[in-house]
Amino acid sequence: MMQESGRNLKKYVVIGDPVGHSLSPGMQNAAFRALGLQAEYIAVRVVKEDLAAFARDASKRLAGFNITVPHKNNILPFLTEIESTARAAGSVNTVKVQENGALHGFSTDGYGLEHAVLEAGGPSLKDASICFIGCGGVTPALAFHAAAAGAKEIRILNRTEEKARALAEHLRALHADLRCEGAALSCAEDFLRHTDLTVQCTSLGLKAEDPAPVDPALLSKDTFLFDLVYNRETKILAGARARGIPCADGLAMLLHQGARSFEIWTGLEAPVEEMRRALFNR
Ligand SMILES: NC(=O)c1ccc[n+]([C@@H]2O[C@H](COP(=O)([O-])OP(=O)(O)OC[C@H]3O[C@@H](n4cnc5c(N)ncnc54)[C@H](OP(=O)(O)O)[C@@H]3O)[C@@H](O)[C@H]2O)c1
Repeated sequence: MMQESGRNLKKYVVIGDPVGHSLSPGMQNAAFRALGLQAEYIAVRVVKEDLAAFARDASKRLAGFNITVPHKNNILPFLTEIESTARAAGSVNTVKVQENGALHGFSTDGYGLEHAVLEAGGPSLKDASICFIGCGGVTPALAFHAAAAGAKEIRILNRTEEKARALAEHLRALHADLRCEGAALSCAEDFLRHTDLTVQCTSLGLKAEDPAPVDPALLSKDTFLFDLVYNRETKILAGARARGIPCADGLAMLLHQGARSFEIWTGLEAPVEEMRRALFNR
């Protein structure tokens, strides 16, 4: 499946379906170059039916890999060990291949969010009241990370109400002190009030014609809005800016989740500025 080339070359991949659009190879290869490591990182499309074969092959040939949509959850049965927050969220985006071939899974999406928000002048997750708009594949990883980091309240809004309610229940079950509720998008007015951090986690905004998931006028004026979408200025981000609400798009989250993956794989401090240059000047 994967080609051998050079004995000492460490190989890393990102898998997904599709995966051709991934910005991770440029960013990770810049990091390897910056530290003079003999390593390469490529994108590999893997369909769900081939995940077991991929995992077997990876444990022999790779030093680590990232997982993107739609396999962050599908990969779990093939891992040897899973870090506790990733296990709670049912989501792994980073695997380190140990010397003995064991596959250790982690989720760095929450770390990426936390560091991107701080860097943009937003609040610390500790003691924060957070509202997630959207409850797709990535939200559980972010919410469980926020809960572990000491958030005091998590509210989740989603088009499909049951998903938001189920995640809230799961969070409450594992974090007894956390105030947590899930509801439909129609409860936005209530849920967005008195929120330190609002995280836009729907896929709305990926296309130019997409509407905002909620009326930006409902955002609390004291909140910080972080939008996971990074390929354009979404309508909710533009609405927040127009109202003077501090905000940021999702590109720096991609950077910091990648930096954390790099550190898990190599044990070295990630050259964040070189990775940022590769990502932002692509
Ligand atoms: N910046 C980063 O590093 C980073 C990392 C991961 C993901 N992302 C981005 O985050 C977004 C979500 O990712 P994901 O993996 O969670 O996606 P996903 O699993 O496909 O979930 C999509 C979410 O969007 C909602 N949604 C879709 N169409 C909608 C509509 N017309 N009206 C209202 N809600 C709608 C879905 O609601 P239902 O549940 O009701 O279907 C669901 O909550 C994507 O844009 C992705 O590119 C960014």
